[in-house]
Parts: sequence; C-alpha cells; structure tokens
Amino acid sequence: MRIAVGSDHRGYQIRAKVIDLLHRLGHEVVDLGTDSPEPVDYPDFAVAVARMVSKKEVDRGILVCGTGLGMCIAANKLPNVRAAPCHDDLTAEMSRRHNDLNVLCLSADMLGERLIDRMVELWLNTPFEGGRHARRVERISQIEHESGICDCE
Ligand code: RB5
Repeated sequence: MRIAVGSDHRGYQIRAKVIDLLHRLGHEVVDLGTDSPEPVDYPDFAVAVARMVSKKEVDRGILVCGTGLGMCIAANKLPNVRAAPCHDDLTAEMSRRHNDLNVLCLSADMLGERLIDRMVELWLNTPFEGGRHARRVERISQIEHESGICDCE
C-alpha cells in the first residue's frame, strides 16, 4: 500500500518508528513531516495527510500527535476521509471492518510502542466488511455533500 504519514512535534519519535515498521512490512511511505522536534501546529500536518487520502493519491494515512484527537478532528474536515483515534487491538480492527477507516490517528503519549506496532499491522491487514456497513459509510458521504463539504479545491 501507499501510505501518507504525518505528525506534530509530540508524535515525531513515534512517527519515525511507524515509518520503519511500514517499510519493514513492504509498504510505500509518503512522509509529510514534521521534520524536527520543534513545536508545530498539528492541523497543518493532519490536512497534508488527509488531502492525499481525500484525493486518493495514497491508499491510507497515519497521523500521530500527543493524544491522536486534534489530528482526527482536523483530518475529518476533508471529504472522503474517515479518521479516528484507535487505542487497542479491538478499535484498530473494528475501525476497518465496520467503518472503513482510512486515516489512523495515534496517541504518542498514551500508547506503548509494541501496542502501536500491533495496531498498525492489524489495521493495515483488516478488510472492510462492506454489506450493511457500506450503506452506513455511504450515508456519511451523503452528509458531507449535504453540508457542502465537497471535492472542490
Ligand atoms: C500539542 O501540544 C498537542 O496539543 C497535540 O499533540 C495533540 O495532542 C492535540 O490533539
């Protein structure tokens, strides 16, 4: 898969480890920074990753900040983006099976490295179940259109 990855300063170190893991698993990584531990504003990195997912320039996105929350809020402003923070094996798996999550948001402060590795692998390998869940995800897309969130620049 082609995966865009971004973080703020709080997620900087975990992002490097996630990128290592993705390379080891044979994925192509688009690394969108940040490039140093200097404080930055997480929405800029969330939008950079989310924009690529939204335009289908990548298959998935992964974002890391202190809690995973700010990244999630910002990423979901773009159409076709389904971002959520996951915090254990079950949320990582269910986010794929039921929600077709295409942007995984991770907390650098609250999750251990081994858990993050396991969650990322699970999240990448779990397919969307479709069926009744596809109808619900499609409903979310309709809501985006109704509220004027569109694919226009
Ligand atoms: C940065 O201090 C922090 O607010 C950010 O990493 C993230 O946790 C926001 O949701």
